[in-house]
Amino acid sequence: MNTSISSDSNGYFTADRSADVVNARMGKAINPRLAALMRSVVEHLHTFAWDVGLTQEEWEVAIKFLTEVGQMSSPERQEFILLSDTLGLSMLVDSINNRRPIGATETTVFGPFHVEGAPILDMGANICLDGKGERCLFEGRVLDMDGSPVAGAYLDVWSDNADGYYDVQQPGIQPKWNNRGVFVTGADGKYSFCGIRPIPYPIPQDGPVGQMLTALGRNPYRPAHMHFMIKAPGFQKLITHTFFSGDPYLESDTVFGVKKSLVAAIEPADGQGTWRSTFDFVLAPLV
Ligand code: BEZ
Ligand code: FE
Repeated sequence: MNTSISSDSNGYFTADRSADVVNARMGKAINPRLAALMRSVVEHLHTFAWDVGLTQEEWEVAIKFLTEVGQMSSPERQEFILLSDTLGLSMLVDSINNRRPIGATETTVFGPFHVEGAPILDMGANICLDGKGERCLFEGRVLDMDGSPVAGAYLDVWSDNADGYYDVQQPGIQPKWNNRGVFVTGADGKYSFCGIRPIPYPIPQDGPVGQMLTALGRNPYRPAHMHFMIKAPGFQKLITHTFFSGDPYLESDTVFGVKKSLVAAIEPADGQGTWRSTFDFVLAPLV
């Protein structure tokens, strides 16, 4: 006998208490967090169906869509994460779990294109291996909350190439490790490397998430950005990007990853077409 349904309930399904009937089937000795999560998921799903008056046909479309999202997913292609990204859920989960003290650099979405094991390069090295695109110098410092340099910080960086693709999206076309590298700060906390000025790119559109964006009249583009994952002993790992002022997609990023504090200046570095983008990262201490 469960206690969450009124005393005249016999456990049969009733539309007016549908979520309670379902949740009452949970055992008593299950993981309490799982119970809390599932109770809430069921309540929200049932409320959603009531609120919109979900038709049988719409339910079938949703099941077909989710089936296709699963069928599109593989170790190389995570369509469910793309769905989460485009629904703003990835950024919400990031915000809930990565609150930083005021003054520390903000986090943003990780994305699917990081590859573990990129080569560790000397400061100032070039990461663009395909010779395409406009050169851009990325420079700045890694600092603690007091403004002191952080030595021994690993900056793992990656960006798209001048055609708007990551190397892992074009194996055999782009050189391995194109536009990727790891740099380690010295006592001055400074970093510098030479890449390209990244360009805006559309997220993969050949699957159900792309179809969803089209059906919703949404732009599939991300503004140009450089990815950074920064690790240093005694500090919280920082997963973020820098964006570039003037980018036409800053306010319509299809995965909602832009934060004002992450928009870096970009300016000509010389008279010969090279750009410079300067950005200081401030790491929060481990809690
Ligand atoms: C990226 O920035 O690499 C990315 C993030 C979310 C979805 C797709 C790509
Ligand atoms: Fe990216």
